[in-house]
Amino acid sequence: MTATTARKRIAVVPGDGIGKEVIPHALEVLRATGAPVDFTLLDWGADRYLADGTTVPPDGFPMLARDFDAIFVGALGDPRVATNIHAKEILLGMRFKMDLYANVRPVKLLDVSLCPLKNINPADIDFVVIRENTEGVYMDMGGYFKKDTPDEVATQEDINTRKGVERIIRFAFDYARTHGRKKLMMADKSNVMSYAGGLWQRVFKLVAAEYPDIHTQHMYIDALCLQMVRDPRSLDVIVTNNMFGDIITDLAAALQGGLGMAASGNIHPGLTSMFEPVHGSAPPIAGKNIANPMGSILTGAMMLAHLGLTDAAARIEAAVLTAVQQKKTTVDVGGTLGTKECSEWIANQI
Ligand code: NAD
Ligand code: IPM
Ligand code: MN
Repeated sequence: MTATTARKRIAVVPGDGIGKEVIPHALEVLRATGAPVDFTLLDWGADRYLADGTTVPPDGFPMLARDFDAIFVGALGDPRVATNIHAKEILLGMRFKMDLYANVRPVKLLDVSLCPLKNINPADIDFVVIRENTEGVYMDMGGYFKKDTPDEVATQEDINTRKGVERIIRFAFDYARTHGRKKLMMADKSNVMSYAGGLWQRVFKLVAAEYPDIHTQHMYIDALCLQMVRDPRSLDVIVTNNMFGDIITDLAAALQGGLGMAASGNIHPGLTSMFEPVHGSAPPIAGKNIANPMGSILTGAMMLAHLGLTDAAARIEAAVLTAVQQKKTTVDVGGTLGTKECSEWIANQI
């Protein structure tokens, strides 16, 4: 990544299913801001894999790191690829091989109509999940013993390194500080998973001592799920491991209107980072012009803000807010527009 180039170069991987629909529309919204960004489309995904067996071309990840300032991804996953090998190699490949260790998932309610909870105000839901993105059970280490026999044993290891735990916790404290947030909660299951939990607990306490201005809390991850529904007002910044972070961010998406509304960034400060909506490829609704583009559009705004284009990002967020308030949305969040019409409305608003 070259921090000095004026125009930002963005690699775009629309991917599969609704990713191929929502990403081109999100690009139109980004273009409408006039921000100095250039997009390069990459055809990585199920179609390419089925055509020539390529998941990630040779030199793919070094090329992304070298030639681009950011990566914008739609979704990967296609029922024609039962092994999901292309999604693993492309999506988890970017996260692991480009070392994008912090998965930042903001949770913000734009309008009461979007929230399934009773007696809620938009200001009540405004927190951020910082999910460790390169370790844990996602390393897929394990094995079988006596496979396909009645005595079969399967193991799935949960890998937690001191360096990995420390850097994500430090990232979360820094994030809290630089985003004007006051509280950081670490969530784990240390009452059962005592070794991994013990490491997280010790490191959290050690790093916390360097951030006396940030109030710290701890919760078990199951109790946090209850808290997210019962009292989301109490939440500010949450740091947790890869798998727990994956699960709670789908629950968190539901609080803000569903998967169609949720944005995320896969970040390594100083390196080319990747931005993607939280949702998947949603094969049953793909190609029907009904997928909600707002998650991708808000993800685009997050990417621009990350690249320092904060004015363009703020204008996108404001336009999405107006669209929600005026019900210029897709049906999943209460409107009547199609994917294309909703995106065009937002682009015109900008
Ligand atoms: P999904 O997110 O694709 O869909 C879950 C539910 O949410 C479905 O009911 C779907 O219709 C709805 N939904 C999702 N996005 C929406 C949108 N923008 N607008 C309206 N409704 C939306 O999750 P899934 O069904 O578990 O997975 C489908 C495929 O996507 C699988 O192959 C999975 O592995 C993959 N996936 C990929 C990513 C990614 O690339 N980041 C994330 C999650 C799932
Ligand atoms: C997500 C997705 C991915 C994950 C899948 C598609 C591998 O669910 O980004 O939340 O589990 O991280
Ligand atoms: Mn997920």
